[in-house]
Amino acid sequence: MKQPVPQAEAASRPRILVVDDESSMREMLRIVLRRDGYEVVLASSGNEAIQQLQTAPFDLLLSDIRMPDTSGVEVLRAARQIDGTIVAFMMTAYASTDSAVEAMRLGAADYFIKPFSMDELRLKVRQHLEARQLREENLLLKRALNTRYEFSNILGVSDAMQHVFATIRTVAGTTSTVLISGESGTGKELVARAVHFNSLRRDRPFVAVNCGAMPENLLESELFGHVRGAFTGAHANKKGLVEAAEGGTIFLDEIGEMPPSMQVKLLRVLQDHRFRRVGGTEEVQADVRVVAATNQDLTAMVADGRFREDLYYRLNVLSIVLPPLRDRREDIPLLAEHFLQHHASEMGKRVRTMSAEALQLLQAHAWRGNVRELQNAIERAVALEQTETILPESLPDEVRRSGDVGPTEAFPDLGEGFDLEARGEDFYRHYIALALARAGGVQVKAAELLGMSFRSFRYYVKKFGLK
Ligand SMILES: Nc1ncnc2c1ncn2[C@@H]1O[C@H](COP(=O)(O)OP(=O)(O)OP(=O)(O)O)[C@@H](O)[C@H]1O
Ligand SMILES: [Mg+2]
Repeated sequence: MKQPVPQAEAASRPRILVVDDESSMREMLRIVLRRDGYEVVLASSGNEAIQQLQTAPFDLLLSDIRMPDTSGVEVLRAARQIDGTIVAFMMTAYASTDSAVEAMRLGAADYFIKPFSMDELRLKVRQHLEARQLREENLLLKRALNTRYEFSNILGVSDAMQHVFATIRTVAGTTSTVLISGESGTGKELVARAVHFNSLRRDRPFVAVNCGAMPENLLESELFGHVRGAFTGAHANKKGLVEAAEGGTIFLDEIGEMPPSMQVKLLRVLQDHRFRRVGGTEEVQADVRVVAATNQDLTAMVADGRFREDLYYRLNVLSIVLPPLRDRREDIPLLAEHFLQHHASEMGKRVRTMSAEALQLLQAHAWRGNVRELQNAIERAVALEQTETILPESLPDEVRRSGDVGPTEAFPDLGEGFDLEARGEDFYRHYIALALARAGGVQVKAAELLGMSFRSFRYYVKKFGLK
């Protein structure tokens, strides 16, 4: 026996359900709407309509209101329960608009009083179906964008992080070497993983090596492996991490710590895709993508000869720079909220929210340790907090202190209070006079020195009687 050939999906035409107990009306609507290219299904009663709605999806419902068994309003209610986005039009032969109003309240898009103009109906049907399709497309688009931009565990709303996301996306599509730089705790390893797991190599290994954590000779045999007898203790051949990462990505963390002799060997891997095991004679082919990270200024290291220039250029084919957290403070609330939820659920604590005061302190702090320091601060606060809300008292001392700016020479203590406006004026007078002097009396130039418009500058000059 032959297998039935699966039916190809018809190019999906919008589906309309027409409900009316009057057969001439149903027929007319069917003819008109079909001619406009819609798929039309007819129901002669409310019950039949509800049945249809339950068996297949519709884009639009066009229902009479008064019908013998189940009213159009009930059909509408059922329709919206089944699909909250369905477009619904109601029809009624009665001038009383009571049930029409009720229908609008239930979310009908419009209603028509019989007899109505078929052209008007056709126009409205078209407009509403187009709008509905647009909404659906937007939704799909948004979803696609999210999966592309969101590297689920890397959070950031700042422009700087959006730029990082866009770069990861571009970089992931290539096999080029990537250099990630940023202060400690800015998320370099997280980004390295995102590059790998969004690349075509995602099903192959991601191997991380900390170049700063090992003495030179150990690092070499870790990376490239060794052959039996290469050194005391090398009892057998051993594969290195470059081989372990074959076909995938090797993440060289703290690349700035790599000793010069290893820098040469790494250069060889990048240039010729070849390396030699420790004590080995043959050259081995390597197919690995290299992603390196550093919290040091490699260009400065190149300048004073601590890092090979040729290696630097080989590594820095594509570069991702992670800005310090203090330069993207917009990200702090989102990160804080995320860490709060994460640690609360991990510790099984009922801490739910961050108080406004605590958040203010978090936003003011300098975060020398960047996201890692923030995460630690929140973890500690969640552990200490006895209430549902994180209060300033649960934050580390140094974070709490960032809130109160102590008196300085420029900003003396408030003391018994003082006349702020007079002090402000002194400040203005001082700098306006200074700028004038520096600019040799040329007001346009002086205004520029103070980032002021010429007009406001002139105003102050006059006010203070300067010349
Ligand atoms: N944008 C971010 N969203 C969520 N978590 C982040 C983000 N950035 C960093 N983290 C978290 O902060 C911690 C530090 O990140 P990571 O280890 O990637 O930093 P790093 O730059 O490699 O630091 P180091 O230079 O000290 O090795 C990790 O727990 C990481 O999950
Ligand atoms: Mg790291």
